[in-house]
Amino acid sequence: MLTKMINEKYYCGLDIGTRKIKAGILKIKDPSDMELIGAYEHKSHGFRDNAVSDLGEFSECIHSAIDEITKKAGIKFKAIQLGVGAAMIETRQVDTVIPLVDRGHKVITQQDIKKLNNNARLLGTKIEEEVLHELPQYYVVDDVNSALNPAGLYGRKLGVNSLMIVINGNRIRNITKAVHQAGYDVDNVFFSSYVTSKVVLRDVEKKKGCVLVDIGSQNTTVLVFLDGGLRFLERINMGGDHLTHHIADQIHLSFDLAEEIKQSYAMVLGSEALQDEEILVKREDSYFPVKRGEICQAIESDIEELAGRIQLAVMHSGLRDKINNGLTIIGGGSLLSGFIEKIGQAMNMTVKLGQVNLPLRKNLNHAALFSSVVGLAQCGYEKSFRYSMASNSQSHWSQQVINRIKDLYQEYF
Ligand SMILES: Nc1ncnc2c1ncn2[C@@H]1O[C@H](COP(=O)(O)OP(=O)(O)OP(=O)(O)O)[C@@H](O)[C@H]1O
Ligand SMILES: [Mg+2]
Repeated sequence: MLTKMINEKYYCGLDIGTRKIKAGILKIKDPSDMELIGAYEHKSHGFRDNAVSDLGEFSECIHSAIDEITKKAGIKFKAIQLGVGAAMIETRQVDTVIPLVDRGHKVITQQDIKKLNNNARLLGTKIEEEVLHELPQYYVVDDVNSALNPAGLYGRKLGVNSLMIVINGNRIRNITKAVHQAGYDVDNVFFSSYVTSKVVLRDVEKKKGCVLVDIGSQNTTVLVFLDGGLRFLERINMGGDHLTHHIADQIHLSFDLAEEIKQSYAMVLGSEALQDEEILVKREDSYFPVKRGEICQAIESDIEELAGRIQLAVMHSGLRDKINNGLTIIGGGSLLSGFIEKIGQAMNMTVKLGQVNLPLRKNLNHAALFSSVVGLAQCGYEKSFRYSMASNSQSHWSQQVINRIKDLYQEYF
């Protein structure tokens, strides 16, 4: 029993979205044995315009979202993996070069690459920004030779083109403070859509070229992957809530009621039979009938616009012709009936709803909504000492020591 407890650990993903926060807890024994203990979504309070507006309310909200799961499961843990939504981040494309030697040439070492990446981070970000993800795209040796990994090559100067995902420092400090007030430490901070890609996209898809689209409440994020890494990211300022607003305007309902109607009855226009179906909608004290077609018409132009803007974002990446593994959609907005088919037609691409590719003991329900918290928890685990112990065999350790000695030799002789 005791060894079991020592071997298992809980990793909690907390995804701060525009309107809602989501929490999810993974129990992980080793990389091949994971269990989702629970996932829960809570409307945000004390959080407005993508920043904490009331520390007490927001921390209470975080506390109750996590509490909902821990109480049922009877578990406790100390730290969480924090994820932020697209509205809170910025991206920077940075080009930096450093000299390696005055005369002649030298063999490029891991230390040189580390120094270059540090310079890129310093020069490419503003003083008030924190870097969440630093993704070197390619290195350039002596202005002529482009390489994905320049270690071991001869060169006089070394350059890098890096994609940085950053966040305003005070914005994240305030969210972290709310987490602390809720009773938890923050282990890591990630950009949610990016870490979700690690659990919904397979390595082979990312290598051969694929697109991940995260349709959230107020934003849609388009991420393009090629050669195994993220190559392009664009945020579209349109999400599922735009559709809800238009339904609310069309049928003269509150936003919350329109949201319920949308989730149950809205769909992309298509099936004539369903368009004539009548739905009874409650307004004040009485019910009145609304044709399902009227609900679908209210969102028709939004759907066209969103599909068009996703297509445009993929074109902006300049990688459309290299995408061989289609498009995967996640986020609540992807659940709109008929939307997957609509995007598939608009883009002439295979489109699928995101699924979590992890060795979970039970399948995850509502994967489109909760894959982000699973991605956050899994990435927290991957950054932990336990993970490096579990995945680095003895030979890996000795190989690392040998590589380091080789590096030192090349640096000094
Ligand atoms: N069954 C459904 N059908 C249609 N839309 C849905 C459904 N369920 C949720 N949505 C929509 O999904 C959106 C919320 O998605 P999600 O929870 O992924 O957003 P978020 O993570 O809070 O936002 P963001 O990532 O932009 O910060 C809302 O606009 C909601 O109306
Ligand atoms: Mg989200």
